[in-house]
Amino acid sequence: IRDTKTQTSQWVAEYIIKRINEFQPTKDRPFVLGLPTGSSPEQIYANLVDFYRNGKVSFKHVVTFNMDEYVGIPTSHAQSYHSFMFKNLFQHVDIPPHQIHLPSLENYAEYDNLIAGYGGIELFLCGVGSDGHIAFNEPGSSLASKTRVKTLTSDTIAANARFFDGNINSVPKSAVTVGVKTVMDAKEVILIADGRGKAEAVRQAVEGSISHMWTVTALQMHPKFIMAVDEAATEEL
Ligand code: GLP
Repeated sequence: IRDTKTQTSQWVAEYIIKRINEFQPTKDRPFVLGLPTGSSPEQIYANLVDFYRNGKVSFKHVVTFNMDEYVGIPTSHAQSYHSFMFKNLFQHVDIPPHQIHLPSLENYAEYDNLIAGYGGIELFLCGVGSDGHIAFNEPGSSLASKTRVKTLTSDTIAANARFFDGNINSVPKSAVTVGVKTVMDAKEVILIADGRGKAEAVRQAVEGSISHMWTVTALQMHPKFIMAVDEAATEEL
């Protein structure tokens, strides 16, 4: 817990580069990083770009897998998660393009196998929705789920309308998302949350019973799980 989102983001970015730098990559075994989108990780990505520019980290031996992507808008759309990732991270660092993965209608059936082919995800950075969803595993998602297409709940559509000029009708109605099990299969998970709006999700994640109605609660069973949150997000604890 840190006082502000700025401090939490700094801590997480430093942790990620520490893990990348400690890792001994080989040709067959790169550092595999799972990544989220949304407002929560924006400062973390800005910090990672700064670290890269200052020579503190390289992404040459990093392979990334994003958690989710909208269905129904092209990857070139300004609000696609593809665009978000290039704008906030990928275009500013030295990651080879073929090492970047985002789920899509074309690859989702093979996504978990693709991850397994790299030896699994070393570190999965993960945001959380105010209703406790991770990636787009909306309330009611199976805790054993793998990558698939999900219909978004009206709460999530309303929450994400802010990225579509506040227009609920412009928000895609479904998405491709990694499953809860895909996240659980990572060797380590860091969940980030900030602000009062995430306080109930943080309470459920820490104090709630494990339930498919709050998919974040599955992480209570993960052997190596860190939550990095600001003070405001802890208000319900
Ligand atoms: C979306 C994404 C999630 C993200 C959540 C929270 O629903 N699919 O991966 O964690 O929003 O977003 P934000 O960080 O903007 O609050």
